[in-house]
Amino acid sequence: MTVIDEIYQGDRANSEPGRPRIIALANQKGGVGKTTTAINLGTALAAIGERVLIVDLDPQGNASTGLGIDRRDRNTSTYDVLAGEAPLRDAVVATAVPRLHIAASTMDLSGLELELGHRGDRAFRLRDAIGVLNKDIDPPLDYTYVLIDCPPSLNLLTVNAMAAADAILVPLQCEFFALEGLSQLLQTVEQVRANLNPSLTIHGIVLTMFDSRNNLSSQVVADVRQFMGKKVYDTMIPRNVRISEAPSYGKPVLVYDLKCVGSEAYLKLATEVIQRERELRTTH
Ligand SMILES: Nc1ncnc2c1ncn2[C@@H]1O[C@H](COP(=O)(O)OP(=O)(O)O)[C@@H](O)[C@H]1O
Ligand SMILES: [Mg+2]
Repeated sequence: MTVIDEIYQGDRANSEPGRPRIIALANQKGGVGKTTTAINLGTALAAIGERVLIVDLDPQGNASTGLGIDRRDRNTSTYDVLAGEAPLRDAVVATAVPRLHIAASTMDLSGLELELGHRGDRAFRLRDAIGVLNKDIDPPLDYTYVLIDCPPSLNLLTVNAMAAADAILVPLQCEFFALEGLSQLLQTVEQVRANLNPSLTIHGIVLTMFDSRNNLSSQVVADVRQFMGKKVYDTMIPRNVRISEAPSYGKPVLVYDLKCVGSEAYLKLATEVIQRERELRTTH
């Protein structure tokens, strides 16, 4: 029995069978916690009963590596899926965490934009691949959440993620320039909504690498909350060395050290995400 089984308390899975909720982790800045949040929010959601697929859409493949997927085990990757050469289910591999799977990426993904050129469906490759994921498969892959880990840019890969997603979750690092770039990101979301995906929403903004001993960190939190209001999750992810150590062991922090403050924060974020899901469903 794993630690994840220990904290699993009954089935709280998403109530819409057959259709996963698709959340893209996006921010064109690198190093803000997208991948860390994909891995650990994914693990936390799985720990409380959800069935989660992480789609690694960054050519760097940090989410795949951080979940212990060896490069040799990436025979079929998200590149093959977006290139139209394989169905998404062929790229899916199980992780050591029960109910958490990943579609791994490889460096090939960085050439995709050029390869697809101006094909009419180039922005919808991922949407269409996820659309058929839960169907016509025996046994069914009935995921309740798909989390897409985006690369650090607003390129075709991120646009594919936004066109496929129900909502965007934005990790924002508690640093001086945190808000810089956010308006550009929100503008891109607006463009995607206008042209590709009218129902795209902002799920929320999660403040990452918060350091309570640092006055600047607190000031950034105050500014972001003032600017973005209720869109900011109550949960903040603290700067925590256990979070940064875990990927080198190929483990989510919840498996590496369940009791550390980083694990606690990601579990709290997962409950908040599920709570917000319920609110979104009743208001739409
Ligand atoms: N809460 C945190 N505490 C300490 N280190 C963190 C935390 N979140 C992320 N990191 C580290 O910061 C670096 C960048 O995080 P990452 O999730 O890879 O960002 P992104 O995917 O946005 O580029 C990584 O080395 C990661 O381990
Ligand atoms: Mg990343």
